[in-house]
Amino acid sequence: KRPAGAPDKSLARKVTKVGVVGAGLMASQMALLFARRLEVPVVLTDLDQARLDKGVGYVHAEVDKLLTKGRVSADLANRLKALVTGSLTKDAFADADFVIEAVFEDMAVKKKVFAEVEAVVPAECVLATNTSSLSLTEMGADLAHPERLVGFHFFNPVAVMPLLEIIRGASTDDATLATAFAVGKALKKSSVLVKDAPAFVVNRLLTRFMGEVIGAVDEGTPLEVAEHALDDLGLPMTPFALLQLVGPAVGLHVAETLHAAFPERFGVSAGMAKLVASGKPGVYAPDFSLDPE
Ligand code: CAA
Repeated sequence: KRPAGAPDKSLARKVTKVGVVGAGLMASQMALLFARRLEVPVVLTDLDQARLDKGVGYVHAEVDKLLTKGRVSADLANRLKALVTGSLTKDAFADADFVIEAVFEDMAVKKKVFAEVEAVVPAECVLATNTSSLSLTEMGADLAHPERLVGFHFFNPVAVMPLLEIIRGASTDDATLATAFAVGKALKKSSVLVKDAPAFVVNRLLTRFMGEVIGAVDEGTPLEVAEHALDDLGLPMTPFALLQLVGPAVGLHVAETLHAAFPERFGVSAGMAKLVASGKPGVYAPDFSLDPE
């Protein structure tokens, strides 16, 4: 059955090479998934060799785990390792059909990345963003071809979480959207089309959820109580474990985006802001004393 809002799949373009901008944890997880499910070359790019080596190293280590668990054959493991490579320049995207970015959550940075990518990729290459909360329409505003920009938002851990939010910007065309849905299907994800609104759908829910738990702690509920109060609700992880998985900086950024858009509905926890500013993200604690003042 065609997912709600998905265009006719006959419009989808073939994807034979994938580019990933960034080689951080999200980008590396995506690179492995693309290689494993599409079995096409995947090139990661980043600003320095050390980050690239770390990203490619992560992929190799995860492939080794899959091999140990018997999820892939030795032959496939070798092929997957060979499919994922790193490049310091975006010229490596010259023959890519699908380029996705997972760089820092900053509109100016994302726009700069896409300007550079657009300068090298073929005319029909899909440009995808893994942004957690930023506007697709604004991100595409300076592109020569904003019709090929689409939101493609994964959840952590990428290998495990089935959901994929696909976001259509004001200019995204049907062929781009159809390709995004076809790729989502090949990746074995459950794709949903969501509106281009701040933080889309899932992060609005999670931010409210985390914000209320953090709020309770900031107001004096003991951390242990807030952390375990929901144990019997069947959630897969406790709230602060989830915050650590997502990354406090990402969580804070999403909260700030939502606060700017809906100030009456979303607050930004002072404790979380302090935790992130400290540069020492650890388990959330209301009384941590990392502030130099
Ligand atoms: N990378 C790859 N695989 C992983 C993994 C990781 N980081 N973490 C767990 N897994 C795999 C395990 O290897 C295991 O696979 P096998 O069955 O093949 O062995 C499987 O997941 C289950 O893991 P565990 O048995 O160790 O643990 P679990 O059953 O407690 O599940 C979990 C772990 C899947 C992370 C689960 O706790 C969960 O679903 N947590 C909620 C995660 C969530 O809500 N994510 C959304 C975050 S929001 C976001 O990402 C969006 C954003 O923009 C900020």
